Amino acid sequence: MTRTGLFGGTFNPPHIGHISVADAAVESLGLDSLIVMPTGTPPHKELSDGAPDADARLEMTRLAAAGTPRAVVSDMEIRREGRSYTADTVRAILADEPDTELWLIVGDDMFFSIERWYDAKWLLENVSLAVFARSDCMPDIRAHAERLESRGARVRIVEKQVIEVSSTELREALPKRGGRTFLSDAVYSYIIRRRLYNALPDIDWLREKALALLKPSRVAHVLGTERTAASMALRWGVDEDTARTAALLHDCTKRLSADEQLKFDSLRATMSNNPVPEKLFHAITGAELAQREFGISDGIREAIRWHTSGRPAMTALEKIIYLADMTEPERDFEGVDRLRALCFEDLDRAMLEALEMSVESIKKRNLPLDATTVRALEYYRGITK
Ligand SMILES: [Fe+2]
Ligand SMILES: [Fe+2]
Repeated sequence: MTRTGLFGGTFNPPHIGHISVADAAVESLGLDSLIVMPTGTPPHKELSDGAPDADARLEMTRLAAAGTPRAVVSDMEIRREGRSYTADTVRAILADEPDTELWLIVGDDMFFSIERWYDAKWLLENVSLAVFARSDCMPDIRAHAERLESRGARVRIVEKQVIEVSSTELREALPKRGGRTFLSDAVYSYIIRRRLYNALPDIDWLREKALALLKPSRVAHVLGTERTAASMALRWGVDEDTARTAALLHDCTKRLSADEQLKFDSLRATMSNNPVPEKLFHAITGAELAQREFGISDGIREAIRWHTSGRPAMTALEKIIYLADMTEPERDFEGVDRLRALCFEDLDRAMLEALEMSVESIKKRNLPLDATTVRALEYYRGITK
């Protein structure tokens, strides 16, 4: 006879507490397989802002369970129409595998309420219960287990140490750049990419991911840009972590060849309307990659998009990224110290000087000049008279 575990939950999101239960269940119950079952969403239930839909919970659960041996994620309850009852799910599993001994994994809340579940009598005759509970309620758990066993139920209390995580607190921490340590890297990346729960990235995590996209020779420049952008953000009342995010990602496609970048939709579209010099490719593709992989806001996307060319009427964040890129501590050219000082005195004047220097250097090197840069220069000449 094989042994199968059934571990259900909303997995909203699946965190390391769930993973520790899954791992402990497979090991301590000697399971041949563990079915991990995200519950369906009742059809009438409105999703709150940023909440994942059922498919996103399913995908996150797959990512979370990937490291647990013998775990398989099932979409049975998510695909089922209407309300799902555990008894129906158990019937379907047993119909598929009549010879398996099925262990239902339950936490303390579920364990204490199980006799009130739909079709509880049938359920308790057909499954064994594996109780994973907080250690502070062990005496109650034992008493309840004895009561159920006296009525014929099979109960096993698993005393393995599992990690306690509150899903509510985790969801609340994500928009404040927290929560990362409670999630596997794959699940956290997924949440950030899709901005689920309105999550914002932990800056240390983002830095690690962003630096991994760079050639080693570019790391010092990007870290310098991050530090400079953070100081300028503080000076000009822009959110510091937003500036750090844009700075860390501003050159994220710089290591790719022109041919590789021409595969990006954003660059293809730009090149068919308004061709730009190759020097600008990475600003366009960087904005696309950053949005696709890191779920950045539109404001950050635009700051990356315009960091090389500039443009008329830039936002404070756009100016900060443009200027931090140009004046970070690794930069060394004539007039850089004056420009550095100006960045903290007058942002528009700093933009004018920076654009003038940039146009002059492009002309000197006989490189093609971008039309937006010319318009930006005219704009900042006009407003700083
Ligand atoms: Fe750049
Ligand atoms: Fe740069």
